[in-house]
Amino acid sequence: MDHPPLDFTNWSTTCIDLVNHFLDTHLPASDSEPSVLHEAMRYAALGSGKRIRPLLCFASGFITQAKTEDLCVAASAIELIHAYSLVHDDMPAMDNDVLRRGQPTCHVKYGEAIALLAGDTLQTLAFQWLSESSNHPEKQLYLIRLLSQASGSMGMGGGQAIDLLHVNQAMNLSQLETMHKMKTGALIEASILMGAYCGHPPQPDQHDKLRQIGQNLGLIFQIKDDLLDIQSDSATLGKTAGKDAARNKPTYVSIMGIAKAERLLEQLASETYLLIKQLGDSAHYLMQLSQLFVHRQH
Ligand code: IPE
Ligand code: IPE
Ligand code: MG
Ligand code: MG
Ligand code: MG
Repeated sequence: MDHPPLDFTNWSTTCIDLVNHFLDTHLPASDSEPSVLHEAMRYAALGSGKRIRPLLCFASGFITQAKTEDLCVAASAIELIHAYSLVHDDMPAMDNDVLRRGQPTCHVKYGEAIALLAGDTLQTLAFQWLSESSNHPEKQLYLIRLLSQASGSMGMGGGQAIDLLHVNQAMNLSQLETMHKMKTGALIEASILMGAYCGHPPQPDQHDKLRQIGQNLGLIFQIKDDLLDIQSDSATLGKTAGKDAARNKPTYVSIMGIAKAERLLEQLASETYLLIKQLGDSAHYLMQLSQLFVHRQH
């Protein structure tokens, strides 16, 4: 895949195709029982997501010369956790959304009980895939550890709890930063580290830089999500625009306003680009992907 090096567009299309193929061929078939549950899992995971977490995994794996087959497993496992988080995030007890990736949300299509179970079983399948990979057992275990820490109560799950506990509640900037780092940043950081650890293990200095880049990109991604929620429309986003304000959610926009949130985004982006440069030439896909985080329209 890296001979000859592909330009960014070809590279990202290739990675997305690989992940979509892996998901399609490894998710349980929709005609296997319990077929409704399997259909719901496939519906949630195979929709038109941007696959940015898998792309991060491939981009950092490129730096450490990871094998494509190992990256496919790790990237697909991460995407399963992400898909599960969206299914649950959209449910009535959480954000109560009806539109996701341009389609009815999972619980609207399959009912709440099946959606809940689809989320649960996507999550466990992610760890099953990691445990079944052909990676060295020590690496496998480390990847499982990274992903479980990132999705648990000190990561995504905990961040979602903080988010929901603060509907209609005041929040200061440092609480907001912590919430964003947990609910979105943790999985983004894990995507970068997991990709890197699929290859030659990074040196401590490289590990620290990758972690910092992951944390910054996580924050950048959620600030941009908050901005798009107010600046874009449902057709472009494929999800309901304006819902943060409608539900009185604490976001960067509600706390500091659009202009300051945009400035913070740019400042964080400049810091992140500098860090990525320090990783050398092999980080060029990571650099271009980071630019997409800042300039994406959906
Ligand atoms: C949406 O994530 C949820 C957030 C963490 C902000 P994405 O914007 O990556 O969603 P998809 O996968 O492209 O649908
Ligand atoms: C979701 O944040 C974060 C996770 C799913 C972990 P949001 O609630 O802002 O995501 P969207 O806007 O519904 O995609
Ligand atoms: Mg939410
Ligand atoms: Mg939501
Ligand atoms: Mg949002």
